[in-house]
Amino acid sequence: MKRKVTKAIFPVAGMGTRFLPATKSVPKEIMTLVDRPLIQYAIDEARAAGIKEFIFVTARGKSALEDYFDTAPILEAELRRAGKTDLLEILRATNMESGAIAYIRQQKALGLGHAVWCARRLVGNEPFAVILPDDVIAAETPCLQQMVEAYAETGGNMVAAMEVPQEKTGAYGVLDVAEDMGQLVSVKGMVEKPAPEKAPSNLAVIGRYILSPKVMNDIGKLKKGAGGEVQLTDAIAQQINEPNGGVYGFRFRGQRFDCGSKAGFLQATVAFGLARDDLREEFGDYLREMVMLDKAAQ
Ligand code: G1P
Repeated sequence: MKRKVTKAIFPVAGMGTRFLPATKSVPKEIMTLVDRPLIQYAIDEARAAGIKEFIFVTARGKSALEDYFDTAPILEAELRRAGKTDLLEILRATNMESGAIAYIRQQKALGLGHAVWCARRLVGNEPFAVILPDDVIAAETPCLQQMVEAYAETGGNMVAAMEVPQEKTGAYGVLDVAEDMGQLVSVKGMVEKPAPEKAPSNLAVIGRYILSPKVMNDIGKLKKGAGGEVQLTDAIAQQINEPNGGVYGFRFRGQRFDCGSKAGFLQATVAFGLARDDLREEFGDYLREMVMLDKAAQ
């Protein structure tokens, strides 16, 4: 039976060491693309896909995330007094329905699989989504929504997928493709972070998943995998030959930015800046000028 997907897990326990010193006191997920934190993009995408329950797997030092999704009575009163209704409207996007959001802590950094597993009791016996906020995807139809629509046809388990350069496979979960149906592929194997010469393909897993609750049981039984961590990829791979299971890769339409890396974060900043009506002209002029200066210097 294919059920509606209404719960999503956001693993946000990572220390974000690649962005030190910024992440010494600010959670990585609060870092902004233009003026919106990474986590806001993830939440908006989940909402668009019909998600009603938002489960954050956090850790010590991440309480700024909880404050972000809380009401801010003093700030709101001040904006109201000053008649700044446009800003009040912007803040509205951060309001969550009472009880729609839950926070649990991952006490030890044992890997992505373990982080997801920490949410097992909140997920219960339902299919669930996982969104990795580091992977920001600009798309006309938000990526998870595309996946929910495809999943309504396939059931099983689905991961977002994208071709990456062969030499980059070591940074991703990689799919071993059984059948390539174009946008969808059926999967006969999954490997976490294989060396390029060992990778079964260059079709990489991107941080959007729709998973059967059975994956939670499998995570509980896993041994440590790549990098000495409990890997979500390994648990999903257990579902490949399960009756009513199966794993599908979904080539989404959209542009993915790796906001877990500095270069990716900067690229996303430029792309999202240029996509904004209020910034396009001024920022675009600046970029053109920079490129011309760069060319002239060569
Ligand atoms: C995680 C997953 C990996 C996936 C990647 C997508 O890795 O373990 O399978 O391909 O996200 O961004 P991480 O980037 O957390 O090392």
